[in-house]
Amino acid sequence: MTRIAIVEGDGIGHEVIPVARRVLEQLHPEYEYFDVDVGYGRWERTGCPCTDPDIAELKTADAILFGAITTPPMKDYQSVVLRIRKALDLYANIRPVKNKDLDILIVRENTEGLYSGIEELTSDRATTLRVVSRKGSQRIIRKAIELARQRNGLLTIGHKANVIKSDVFFRDICLAEAKAAGISYNDKFIDALSLDLLQHPKNYSVVVTTNMFGDILSDVAAYLVGGLGLVPSANIGDHYALFEPVHGSAPDIAGKNIANPIAAVRSASMLLHHLGDYHGSASVEAAIDHVLRKGICTRDMGGSAGTREFGDALVQSLQGAK
Ligand code: NAD
Ligand code: IPM
Ligand code: MN
Repeated sequence: MTRIAIVEGDGIGHEVIPVARRVLEQLHPEYEYFDVDVGYGRWERTGCPCTDPDIAELKTADAILFGAITTPPMKDYQSVVLRIRKALDLYANIRPVKNKDLDILIVRENTEGLYSGIEELTSDRATTLRVVSRKGSQRIIRKAIELARQRNGLLTIGHKANVIKSDVFFRDICLAEAKAAGISYNDKFIDALSLDLLQHPKNYSVVVTTNMFGDILSDVAAYLVGGLGLVPSANIGDHYALFEPVHGSAPDIAGKNIANPIAAVRSASMLLHHLGDYHGSASVEAAIDHVLRKGICTRDMGGSAGTREFGDALVQSLQGAK
């Protein structure tokens, strides 16, 4: 039996994930769905945002559908999202930025870099260690090469090797692997790349980069396709996989039934693809297009449909397509 863990998380996670879940349930009523309650809300209620048994439960799932979790900027609060990514060793964060004209994959290293968690705070100085390992770099560049090969596309390596030695290390490993793989590739400084991606998006197919650069670049690139409400992601490791929108818990719009659920639904589509249901995955994408063509969309896309109403139209479209 295929088992899907559902983590709504916080904020708009409680609104967009139920829509994505309905879509999955519509296509796969035979799957078992189980909720795992972790996040800031859980911390407010119990004083603990995520326990070891929660991590163990997540590991029993064939795939995880995840909303977003609020991370309050407090000194001692450990980010739950980062804890899960590390605990499940979800080293490849794949973020497709896609519409009818564009098809870019941002491949972000997801376990180290500036997110190493090796930090020191004193009253005079704060230090974060940026760890770039050979193993971490090799496995992310190999994943990016695999994806570039599948789509016969250019691989662009984003880095800041003009300044940061750990990025000289990252760049050189990536260049050596790409050369050995015999694919087309180039490399760019991440600052110049960020602007060029917006100005000439068609020159890009797969972009691989380190953890924090990939985090920032994916929000920037969302601009090309209509904003954060539209961009999904997959967090993939050798043993586990978690699917989540690129956006966060959006406290500014939470509880108002106005969040765009497309990023969450596309994340569910990526989940189905990961589980081998290519037809189901494509039918979810087709249903989104169908609903948008009817002019039904949320406020961020210029429409007036609520999150739930968009979900109703989506489920109806999937029923009609059966
Ligand atoms: P955010 O992505 O939550 O929101 C940024 C802006 O985009 C906001 O104005 C928001 O209203 C808008 N937006 C986001 N998703 C939208 C959607 N589906 N539909 C319409 N508009 C949408 O980023 P933030 O405000 O910087 O962060 C809020 C919280 O979320 C923070 O605590 C942050 O740490 C957390 N966060 C969590 C995750 C995650 O769990 N994966 C990811 C990013 C941010
Ligand atoms: C994301 C988020 C997270 C990240 C935060 C909330 C830890 O911004 O998934 O893009 O930086 O990876
Ligand atoms: Mn982010």
